[in-house]
Amino acid sequence: MDFAAVDIIKAKRDHHELTDAQIDWIVDAYTHGAVADEQMSALAMAILLNGMNTRETVRWTEAMIASGERMDFGSLDRPTVDKHSTGGVGDKITLPLVPIVAACGAAVPQLSGRGLGHTGGTLDKMEAIPGWRAHLTNEEMFAILRDVGGVICAAGTGLAPADRKLYALRDVTATVEAIPLIASSIMSKKIAEGAGGLVLDVKTGSGAFMSDPDRAKELARSMVAIGNDAGVRTRALITAMDVPLGYAVGNALEVAESVEVLAGGGPQDVIDLTLALAREMLDLAGLEADPHEAITSGRAMDVWRRMVTAQGGDPDAPLPQARHSLAITADASGYLTHLDALGVGIAAWRLGAGRARKEDNVSPGAGILLHAKSGDAITEGQKLLTMFTDDDSRFGFADDALVGAFTIGSTPDIHQLPLILERIDA
Ligand code: URA
Repeated sequence: MDFAAVDIIKAKRDHHELTDAQIDWIVDAYTHGAVADEQMSALAMAILLNGMNTRETVRWTEAMIASGERMDFGSLDRPTVDKHSTGGVGDKITLPLVPIVAACGAAVPQLSGRGLGHTGGTLDKMEAIPGWRAHLTNEEMFAILRDVGGVICAAGTGLAPADRKLYALRDVTATVEAIPLIASSIMSKKIAEGAGGLVLDVKTGSGAFMSDPDRAKELARSMVAIGNDAGVRTRALITAMDVPLGYAVGNALEVAESVEVLAGGGPQDVIDLTLALAREMLDLAGLEADPHEAITSGRAMDVWRRMVTAQGGDPDAPLPQARHSLAITADASGYLTHLDALGVGIAAWRLGAGRARKEDNVSPGAGILLHAKSGDAITEGQKLLTMFTDDDSRFGFADDALVGAFTIGSTPDIHQLPLILERIDA
């Protein structure tokens, strides 16, 4: 059935629900170039202003999934389960999580992207490992999943191509923030990836894409509804992103911290969040294994090493180091009462850990290593953090982003969200 795009725009502008047929048609016609960018922009803005209900959002997601291929892992002899994070500063959780969950008996196909803006992308982190390659054929990906149990690789362009086109348009038309469009964008790609279960880590706080906790919850609820409707067992944790996760922010620095976690050490917040997400994933996969035991037994580290090697990486090779470093020291004694994720994320990005445009390269050794976290006692002159970069002209610009990012108070009275704020189930 054919429609006029303008009638669909008018309907949403005038607060009407779109029918399933209208949604199917407009997503398909836009993907194939039969609906112009200016028409889709107007519709995206009408959706941002007037919303879509759950039925419309589910249908919109299905239409975007139908625009491309859908992976099928039914031939694997393990349950498949995946995780998606809305992104945060120092969020390297995928790196230890995938081998832990794979070591517990699930197959984890983690099809990832690169970072844009102040939150880093999983592929950028993995590419800091000498020799590691992100792009695999579907056959290679299946083979690694079958042999090793976990794979982290680039999501193919065949998954939800409608989303790629629409996301680029939203980016330049101030319509990224529409919750139904965000939820359908994320879920169309995740559902097309074909895992049987999905755990969402929806972050909130200053360093998160959804800084407002209520909007983060609304997004999580919408995504959980979409996933379960599509037959993917889906659950979400709303987690804190007002302070960076762990001490390392930047690609190679985060790989090193992830390996520490797999070796049985690492920062407590990274360990706690990794284990919480692993438990949810294993529960959805119907597996009773203990993720902590997967670490202490060394099985998770073994899976990590095999995963890295399977993609050409050398798990024993030294990680790249930036050419220049500069420490920032405390100008007073007391307690670190506030440490702002956004400031640290922007500073790391300016040091070269992130990219401003899709085409930019990242500098694998660039970033920030924190030496203190909120609540720690601080002595005047002690190092608070070290900045790393390959281009020392970047230090000043990065330092500007850290102005106000640290507060040293006289009591250990910290203002910080709990690590896990809420769990949202079907
Ligand atoms: N990430 C996505 O994949 N899509 C959005 O719309 C926002 C964040």
